[in-house]
Amino acid sequence: MANNLLAGKRGIIFGALNEQSIAWKVAQRCHQEGATFVLSNAPLAMRMGEINKLAEECSAPIIPADATVVEDLEKVFSGAVEQLGGKIDFVLHSIGMSPNIRKGKHYGELNYDWFQKTLDISALSFHKMLHVAEKQDALAEWGSVVGLSYIAAQRAFLDYTDMSQAKAVLESIARSYGQRLGQLKKVRVNTVSQSPTKTTAGTGISGFDAFYEYADRLSPLGNAPAEACADYCVSLFSDLTRYVTMQNLMHDGGFSTTGISEAMVDLLTQATSKEA
Ligand SMILES: NC(=O)c1ccc[n+]([C@@H]2O[C@H](COP(=O)([O-])OP(=O)(O)OC[C@H]3O[C@@H](n4cnc5c(N)ncnc54)[C@H](O)[C@@H]3O)[C@@H](O)[C@H]2O)c1
Repeated sequence: MANNLLAGKRGIIFGALNEQSIAWKVAQRCHQEGATFVLSNAPLAMRMGEINKLAEECSAPIIPADATVVEDLEKVFSGAVEQLGGKIDFVLHSIGMSPNIRKGKHYGELNYDWFQKTLDISALSFHKMLHVAEKQDALAEWGSVVGLSYIAAQRAFLDYTDMSQAKAVLESIARSYGQRLGQLKKVRVNTVSQSPTKTTAGTGISGFDAFYEYADRLSPLGNAPAEACADYCVSLFSDLTRYVTMQNLMHDGGFSTTGISEAMVDLLTQATSKEA
């Protein structure tokens, strides 16, 4: 259902890799709501070519960027302002990658060069984006910036390894830059802490299926799908949430505030009665 919530708004969406990507769904919803935007992803992801389909569907220009490289980000922000014809009203940071997770390193044997890469790609890139946007004065007043996070920033999930620290930094950057840009430009900066979602980044984590099922059974509403996350991002980009800033917003079907659910009690009762 489209309500023209983003009519006339200009944006930049980072991180649409394929149809499963959260950023892909956000782009589709922003398009339905009347926004125009630039799509950006790492040159390597571009070569896979799927983003062209989305670009065509949404009539969106593509500007490639490695989000860890400030010069690349400068080209994205200046190019977006030029191609879209004015300052940027919304930005989505939907980027995450841990070489340690990719290579199956557990928390006790992390490679520190890769740890730094994880932090650079998944967290510092958010700072770099906001820094470039400020320097170029590329954001419109009352603009909105959203980064995607995960509850491992607050709670221990061992298999999420160094991404837990990356998400904690990401959320902290949202607060600090939210304070700065709120004062300077009335721009809001938030993170959305999303349920486990079956995407390339999500399913790359060992044990993903188990913690997807666990979260789904614990959450009173079940896991929030990517499409619902896109709806939530649209609301945060819209003028209906102009005073929400510096928050980490849980979009998790109630997972984060649930102790135990009936579904889990039933499952554990069955398991322990088998053991007895
Ligand atoms: N899938 C989940 O379970 C889940 C849950 C909560 C939060 N998130 C977060 O959502 C965001 C999007 O992930 P997703 O699940 O849609 O997976 P995804 O794999 O579709 O997206 C991750 C994106 O990061 C991009 N990327 C990686 N390195 C980059 C770089 N150097 N420069 C620019 N882009 C780069 C990839 O190309 C890809 O498009 C991530 O921040 C992720 O941590 C995911």
